[in-house]
Amino acid sequence: MKNWFLILCVFSIWSCNTPESNVQPNERSDRTKLMISNMKLARDPHTWSKPNQARVVHLDWNAKVDFTTKTIQAVATYDIDNITDTSAIVLDAKGLRISSVQVDGKEVAYQLSEEKQFIGSALSIPIDSASKKISIAYATTDAAEALLWVDGEHPFLFTQSQAILGRTWIPCQDSPGVRITYNATVEVPSDLMALMSAENPTVKSADGKYTFKMDQPIPAYLIALAVGDIAFKPIGATTGVYAQPDVIDLAASEFSEMQQMVDAAEKLYGDYVWGRYDVLVLPAAFPFGGMENPKLTFATPTILAGDKSLVSLVAHELAHSWSGNLVTNATWNDFWLNEGFTVYFEQRIMEAVYGRERSEMLAQLARQDLDATLLELKEADMNADTRLKLALEERSPDDGMTDIAYNKGYFFLRLIEETTGREKFDAFLKEYFTSHAFQVMETESFLAYLRKNLLTPEQESAINVQDWVYGEGIPSNIPIVNTQKFILVDNVRTNWEAGKIQANNIGWAKWSYQERVHFVSNLSPAIHAGKMQELDDAFEISSTGNNEVLFVWLLKAIDRKYTPAYGKLREFLVTVGRRKFVKPLYEELVRTDQTAIAQKIYQVARPHYHAVTVGSVDALLASTSKSN
Ligand code: BES
Ligand code: ZN
Repeated sequence: MKNWFLILCVFSIWSCNTPESNVQPNERSDRTKLMISNMKLARDPHTWSKPNQARVVHLDWNAKVDFTTKTIQAVATYDIDNITDTSAIVLDAKGLRISSVQVDGKEVAYQLSEEKQFIGSALSIPIDSASKKISIAYATTDAAEALLWVDGEHPFLFTQSQAILGRTWIPCQDSPGVRITYNATVEVPSDLMALMSAENPTVKSADGKYTFKMDQPIPAYLIALAVGDIAFKPIGATTGVYAQPDVIDLAASEFSEMQQMVDAAEKLYGDYVWGRYDVLVLPAAFPFGGMENPKLTFATPTILAGDKSLVSLVAHELAHSWSGNLVTNATWNDFWLNEGFTVYFEQRIMEAVYGRERSEMLAQLARQDLDATLLELKEADMNADTRLKLALEERSPDDGMTDIAYNKGYFFLRLIEETTGREKFDAFLKEYFTSHAFQVMETESFLAYLRKNLLTPEQESAINVQDWVYGEGIPSNIPIVNTQKFILVDNVRTNWEAGKIQANNIGWAKWSYQERVHFVSNLSPAIHAGKMQELDDAFEISSTGNNEVLFVWLLKAIDRKYTPAYGKLREFLVTVGRRKFVKPLYEELVRTDQTAIAQKIYQVARPHYHAVTVGSVDALLASTSKSN
């Protein structure tokens, strides 16, 4: 396996069109880029494109964002590399209205295949060996699942392309292995600002026109756009925050330690190569906690707790600047290479900046989430999805986005660290990121690299690498996390549950959010609505500003039918679109025979959600979705 990967790299470098000796010195960096872009890629079941035959290498995107029709009209012009002198280049497109296609300035007859579930249509454009540029004029439609248009006094638009929604707003080779650089000009209403995963403005332009440049090659799932009434505040020398004016100050104080995080990350695993690191706080409808768009993380406002308690999300998205954005999963079957590594790196940043106790509490919460996910997948008869290496052919890549990739991945890497010692593992990881920068990684090539550069055969079998990666469930040698603080919380909880202490003596006020989450999520089934009321009276949990605490509290409220919290539940579901919160709350309502309540809330909430969240909740509340 080791040799196979090496041979592949060497072969793909040889197979470039010009021999290295003919290259002028000033062309060399372009040649390096081309060599990277020419690397033979693994088969990806979620793309129509055939990047080993003909590949896009650079995008010039000219777009106009129209809030009245809720469409983007654009021309996407790509520089292409016809690697095997093939007669057509294939791109992914889904729900786009294409008006014309040109090759080197001449209109051509293109083909758009029938739309296939999940992956959309193949856009085939005729080319020959001399073709240099293809140009597609198109508009987005209501079927653009990546886009969410948020109404309001100042409207807002944002994109969320991962995993395979980039193709719903830009025709592209939408496979994580295909990297492109891009330039863009974007025109928006003149009272709004536009931002991309690129070099960004910090003030609004007078005419609503913005230009963007992304000089480092990135996969299509990392192309992003946001348009809105957005302000900027610097944090450190190379860090800052963007948000709507009403939250910009809160956001800037919440993320005031961002520069320390970047410094800590660089100290661990090498230079941050993307120039600036900024965070954009989006409207509450954003379907994820965060998205690692290069140079500009997109984040949910639900992490603005007012006490910096939820900043591990920033550490996570920052860590993706190495794991994911520099070394990228080859296909969505290798998703754990993006997320497991990122959770591990996130934890190391948290430990470096805030200390081991805080990162250990996070690790223990991660373990609890992992156990819950394992149980759920088992009950749903989906044990195959508990493998790190996934098999998502003919399925939505979304199916693989579970705690397995994140937390089983994390514990696997932690076990390797504990086996080899931290010093060796850190040196290994640093070299791994550096030597594979701007490349893709498959699970198999990672394992080969791991064997070659870190693990002895004895260590490999002690860890039981094969079982961790290809086996179901979790091996028994999973590292144990036990934090003193949680043990104390458990003691207090059992004493209160047994009536030995009063709610007022619980010590809640002094607890971190992690301790509070641990307390609430482990409440005994014997604690009914009346006892929940006692806690609520003492600590006003139903109106906490910490959304992680609120979320576990609302789950318990649903289960115990603690109706005083239902007003808050409704408000939360109608304003927040973050799938990690929204989906389990509806599921809990359905599981506890409160489907009518779920449907009533969903009817109001659904128009505010992004397609990613709608997709998950529709599947659960099918009858409601039909009436919408
Ligand atoms: N890249 C992911 C989000 C994602 C994954 C979007 C797959 C679409 C498909 C991002 O880095 C992430 O993991 N976000 C988490 C937060 C994190 C702290 C675990 C989230 O959104 O909850
Ligand atoms: Zn992530």
